Order: sequence, then structure tokens, then C-alpha cells
Amino acid sequence: MAKVDRYATSRAYLERASKTLAGGVSSNVRRGDKPLPLYFDHAKGAHLWDVDGNRYIDYVLGRGPLILGHGAEEVIEATCRQLERGQIYAAQHPLEFELSERICKIVPCAERVRFGISGSEAVHGALRLARAATGRKIVLKFEGQYHGWLDNILYSLAPHEDAMGDALHPNGVQESRGQFTAAESHVVVLPWNNIAVLEEHLAQHAGEIAAIITEPIMANTAVIPPLPGYLERVRELCTQYGIVLIFDEVIAGFRASLAGAQGRFGIKPDLTIFGKAIANGLPISCIAGRADLMDLIGNGSVGHGGTYNSIPPAVAAAVATLDILAQDDGAVYKKIEKTGQALMDGIRKIGERLGIPLIVQGYGALFYIGFPLGPVDEGQAITNYRTALKVDQEKYNSFVSALADRGVRVIPRGNWFLSSAHSPADVAETLEAVEASLIEVCQPAAAVALGASK
Ligand SMILES: Cc1ncc(COP(=O)(O)O)c(C=O)c1O
Repeated sequence: MAKVDRYATSRAYLERASKTLAGGVSSNVRRGDKPLPLYFDHAKGAHLWDVDGNRYIDYVLGRGPLILGHGAEEVIEATCRQLERGQIYAAQHPLEFELSERICKIVPCAERVRFGISGSEAVHGALRLARAATGRKIVLKFEGQYHGWLDNILYSLAPHEDAMGDALHPNGVQESRGQFTAAESHVVVLPWNNIAVLEEHLAQHAGEIAAIITEPIMANTAVIPPLPGYLERVRELCTQYGIVLIFDEVIAGFRASLAGAQGRFGIKPDLTIFGKAIANGLPISCIAGRADLMDLIGNGSVGHGGTYNSIPPAVAAAVATLDILAQDDGAVYKKIEKTGQALMDGIRKIGERLGIPLIVQGYGALFYIGFPLGPVDEGQAITNYRTALKVDQEKYNSFVSALADRGVRVIPRGNWFLSSAHSPADVAETLEAVEASLIEVCQPAAAVALGASK
């Protein structure tokens, strides 16, 4: 009997959409979704349903924003209340300072804030600010990190092995055809978590460098934590050389802790970018940081604008989200950490029991899973982009598809996002799906013998 296609409607929609929508999707990263770019119908809490009626436990969470899960009631109510009062004023409204006051209270480096819509444009603004403040041109970024899709910084997120060059002195590799080539001379790429290489570079070139931009947790490649002392030394070097230190907390912000990664690690950057979790899924980003820097935007000498900046429903959503996140001494974070750790531990145990080597690293709120290609060192398995390449991506893609077949949705790059809506029952159901999927993908003979059910 022919196998039923559980994604038949999504498949048909994708084919239809592809005739008028470039690639059938609205963001290129979605093209790579496994088993295919699915179409969704509705979502609530930790779950979402596709157009074929399949229900998933969602660990994608909009690629990070949904820290409270889908459809968090207080956030929806605040958004709808504001929508009834007006969608956009192209002017000031009191919720703006309600939000900026909260951020300045919560986030160590935030003395002033400016709102935008996407993380990419907030990064763009922060880099412009750093150049204006220092009178220098170069931005230093790290291999494997992502700071948005704009020309001036879209370098070496996932460079091909043939192009990436020497491990200690990597090439800056453009990620897109058509990228503005002149930007190339304004971006330097170094390996992350290697302080000696950074010190050596700065000893020779610090006078040209306007900003060092870094994800404080390397969320976009393998959820790599900073090695002990690394960020502290980066901070010292930036202070020593008058370089603007920018933390890109688009993923870590309001996720690694209420005060972001900077609060979790106790390190104050000069500027920070937030997006994603700040409004639990409504579009808003911000640049936050030192008053003397932000006042260059404030006094109009550094350009910053946008029709949709601080659009009232999104600001209302952000105020409601931050109020929930701040309640009960961070109870939401304790819950997410506990749920995420239980899931990580459970996955590790299944791997050990089945004799399948796995890398599981990161934090309860955001972690990474990969299939190592060789023996894994004791301690932290992946510390930078080059070590992150030593995993079997094809096998992981099959694992992602096998999980989807069992009602668990994850990102092919290996990141798992958790929300306060995920329950112990979701964890138990997920672990069952993980075990069956690992057997199917890594031990197909055993899967046949067991008649592995989907
Ligand atoms: C660390 C980081 N910075 C910047 C961005 C860009 O944000 P946006 O997609 O909102 O433009 C992302 C997006 O995933 C990100 O992960």
C-alpha cells in the first residue's frame, strides 16, 4: 500500500506559492526547513498545527522570539487593546517610554534606547554609531556569528570550507551574491573564543577598529558558551583601545536571563542589540547602550529612522512581555531552565543508552544537538566555528525530518529553543520521539526489527 504523505497539503501549497512567491517562502532560511517548508494553520502555547492537521511540539518558537510560547494571553490582550486605539501614529506615545524605562532598569549597559523593527537594522544602526563615535572604519566580527542580512556585516556566518582560509586568520567570506563588495575592506573576521588571536590583531590594528561585535553566546553556531574569562578580556581590550564593544543579543536578550547574556555573565558592553524575545513574537528591536554614544542618535548627528519604529502594538506587546518576565523574581526563567535541562539530560541519557554519540550543549533556554563525526573531547565539545564543522549535518537533517514525522519541530541548524509554555508532559513526549528518531536515523536495522512506529 502506498505510504500516506502526511505533508500533502503543505507540499501542494509550496508548489502553488512558488509560482508567485520567490522560492515559496519569505525568508531564505526557511527554504532549508526539513522535511520541507511547511505551512502552518494555528498555534497555542508550546504547540502548533500545520495545514495537514499535524500537531507539533515547537522548539523553533519563531526562531527565538516566543519565550512565553505561542499566544501568551497577556501579550495578545495588550497588543489587541493597543490595536483598537491605533495601529501607527508616526509620532510619540507613552508606551515608548514605558518600555525604554523598563529596559534601562533591567539591562546593565542600557542608559538610552532606540527602537526599530528588525535585528538586522538595529545592528546596522549600532555599527554606524560606532564609526561615528570613533572616527574609525573597521568592524571586527567572529566566524560563525550572524548579525543580520545587511551588506555591511553579512560575512562568514557559514563559510564554505574551500573559502574560509586559515583557522586563526580566517577570510572574511561574503554570504550572498550581489553583496556590496566595498564593504569587504571594512570587515575583519577572527575566530571566536580565542583571546590570543584577538590580542595579536589588536596590538597591530586597534587604531583602525571602530567596533567589535559579538554574540555573547554564539547562538547561531552550535550555541557555544564563551570560554571562562573570554568576554571579560574582550571587554578590557575594547576599553584599552577605545573600541566600541557591541553585544548582539538578538537571541540571548531576555532569554539567557532577564538582563540578557550581559546580566548572566556580568559584563557591560557599550552597545547592545535586542530583538526576538523582547516582545514575544511582535516585531520590535532596539539599540541600547551608553548615553554618550546613544546621544549621537539623540542629537540627530547619526541618522536613524524608520516608518514602523516603535509601532504601538509591538511596543505594547514588549511592555507586557517584560512585565511577565520580571514577575516573581524571574520565576519564568527558573521554569524554562528546569524544563530545558530535563530535556537536555533526557536526550543525553537516550544517546548513552543507545550507544549513539551526541553533542548536547548550551543552556536550558537554548541548546544545541549535533552528531559528532569523531571522538568528542571531555568538557565542551564545540568552542568555535571550525570545531562546529565536525558534525554530521546530513544525519541531523534526517533526524529533524524523523522528529517532524513524530510531531516535534526543530531547526536543522541544531538549535532548540524553550519557552515557559513547555511542560513536563511535552518533555516526556519529546523524549519518546527523540528515541524513536535516533533509532530510525542511526540504527535503521534496529528500527526495522522494532517496527519503529511513527
Ligand atoms: C544574533 C542575531 N543578530 C541579528 C539577527 C537579525 O535579526 P532579524 O532577523 O530580526 O533582522 C539575528 C537573526 O536571527 C540574530 O540571530
